Amino acid sequence: MPALEARDLSKWFGGLAALDGLDLSVEPGEILGLIGPNGAGKSTALGVMSGFLSPSRGQVVLEGEDITGSPPITAPVGASPACSSRTCCSAAAPSSTACR
Ligand SMILES: Nc1ncnc2c1ncn2[C@@H]1O[C@H](COP(=O)(O)OP(=O)(O)O)[C@@H](O)[C@H]1O
Ligand SMILES: [Mg+2]
Repeated sequence: MPALEARDLSKWFGGLAALDGLDLSVEPGEILGLIGPNGAGKSTALGVMSGFLSPSRGQVVLEGEDITGSPPITAPVGASPACSSRTCCSAAAPSSTACR
């Protein structure tokens, strides 16, 4: 299962399509770079995938879970093997030692 997927991810700012139909898939352990000139939509892509921006269209899927439109994760994300998944850490209180 991919660690992260973007499916037809799109973002408009007014009439400007900053992101238009982005599809990508990142496997666990894979490192994927985004390259492109200024204004290509790299920051918008990261903003939408991380939840700082809401997409106009499309889906963001993290570890098989549709997280489209979910807010950014605020809990410290886990170094603990017992709590390494997003679901585990986002469900815990931010102060939880299980997610540190
Ligand atoms: N908050 C915003 N409001 C309006 N337009 C924006 C906003 N953020 C980015 N844009 C526009 O979206 C396009 C993509 O920008 P951006 O994602 O920052 O590109 P990159 O990071 O690749 O340089 C650009 O035309 C930029 O001007
Ligand atoms: Mg940028």
